[in-house]
Amino acid sequence: MLHFDVLTLFPGIFDGFLSESVLKNATEAKKVSVRLHNMRDWAGDKHATMDDRPFGGGPGMVLKVDRVVPCVEDVLAMGPAPSRLLMFSPQGRKFDQRFAETLTTEQRILLLCGRYEGFDERIADILRPEEVSIGDYVLNGGEVAAMVVIEAVMRLLPGVLGDEDSSRFDSFSNDGVCPGKRMLDCAHYTRPREYRGLEVPEVLLNGNHAEIAKWREESSVGRTEQKRPDLLRIEN
Ligand code: ADE
Repeated sequence: MLHFDVLTLFPGIFDGFLSESVLKNATEAKKVSVRLHNMRDWAGDKHATMDDRPFGGGPGMVLKVDRVVPCVEDVLAMGPAPSRLLMFSPQGRKFDQRFAETLTTEQRILLLCGRYEGFDERIADILRPEEVSIGDYVLNGGEVAAMVVIEAVMRLLPGVLGDEDSSRFDSFSNDGVCPGKRMLDCAHYTRPREYRGLEVPEVLLNGNHAEIAKWREESSVGRTEQKRPDLLRIEN
C-alpha cells in the first residue's frame, strides 16, 4: 500500500479526483491511500493566515515559513515512515515517467502544494524537499501537479489497472513494444473495421501474433520518429 499525504490550502480541489474511477477503486482495494491535510489548520490565528507580503516589496504573497514547516513536520510525524517529501514548484526537477517509476517503491510520499507567488525560501532550507515541476508553465498552485503525480504513480502499482500489462505498454514505458526504449505507444483500433472509408490495418485482424507484435513495434517507432524524435536520442 502506497500512502500519499497531500498538504494543501485547497483540499476541496481533490474531491472528484479522489472519489471517481481508478483512484476510487485503488483506494477501496487498499493499493493506495490519500490523506488530505488542510495547511490552514496550522495557521494558529483566527484569520487563518498562511501567507504574507514579500520582504522587499513586489506583487503576490509568500507562504510563511513558521506555518508551513510545523505543518510538514507534524504530518511527517504521523507516520508511517520512511517517506519522500516532494514540493511543487515550476523550478523543480521535471516530472516524467522515469520519476514516476522511482516513486512506486516508496511506502509514503508527502506532496507539498504551494500557492500564490511561492514558498518562503527557508521552507526548502529547513525541510530539504525534492522540488518537482510538471512542466515549463506556471500553475496557480501545486494541487493539479499533485494529482498528476498521484495518478501517474498509482497506475503503475501492481493490481491497480485491471489488466496487468496495461501500464507496461504505455507511451514512455521502457518495458513496452520496444523494451529498453521509451517510445510512444503504437496505434490502436477497435470496431467498426471500416469507418468513413478508413480501414483497420489488415495485420491486426489475422490473428498472427508475431506479425501483430512486429507491426506494433513499427507503429511505435514510426510514431516516435514522427511526433517525438527527441525520445529516440534518450538512453534509459
Ligand atoms: N506550481 C506552479 N507551477 C507549477 C508547475 N509547473 N509544476 C509544479 N508545481 C507548480
